Amino acid sequence: MANLHLLFLSFVIFNIIFFASPSNALSSCDGPCQTADDCDGQLIRGGGWSPSSGDCQPSGSMPCKGKSYTTYTCSPPVTSATNAQLTLNNFSEGGDGGAPSKCDEQYHDKSEMVVALSTGWYNGGSRCGQMITITASNGMSTTAKVVDECDSMNGCDEEHADQPPCENNIVDGSDAVWEALGLDKGLGNVGVTWSMA
Ligand SMILES: *[C@@H]1O[C@H](CO)[C@@H](O)[C@H](O)[C@H]1NC(C)=O
Repeated sequence: MANLHLLFLSFVIFNIIFFASPSNALSSCDGPCQTADDCDGQLIRGGGWSPSSGDCQPSGSMPCKGKSYTTYTCSPPVTSATNAQLTLNNFSEGGDGGAPSKCDEQYHDKSEMVVALSTGWYNGGSRCGQMITITASNGMSTTAKVVDECDSMNGCDEEHADQPPCENNIVDGSDAVWEALGLDKGLGNVGVTWSMA
């Protein structure tokens, strides 16, 4: 009889532990969080989301010319005034852009209003042929067409004219883009904002 009581008691205890444990109470979310507001109160890292990262974490690193460069598959979220670094690119054959532009397999003259976007913003080509508006801190603004990817994952090879991988926040513009913004090409790298036109 004593043994039966013990058995019943352990059954009750088992049920209390099993059904009342916090992990079961939150079982509506048993994977990594995908956004900031799913999995209320259960912030499991590892799904790519963390609170203060601008939603974009490095994916790794690669060596190039004796240095280590961070690689990214993502870029910061696109807003109505997305912060970016404007760099200068030569989209013509033999220029520092390397291979023809990815969107159209064409080279582009320095007079064309064209840009390459970092891998995350290029987004697998979904912005190819679309116009973006770029605004400089001097207040000048221009539109330009997306024709290429500024590769944030690969570099240091012939396709990328031996250049290291791009940062994840690059708008790589032609001569014409720099001139339309009234910027000194000699600077090479200038903070701008951009949005979809
Ligand atoms: C772009 O590259 C080509 C080929 O090397 C060169 O002839 C041209 O002068 C370059 N353009 C600029 C603006 O640097």
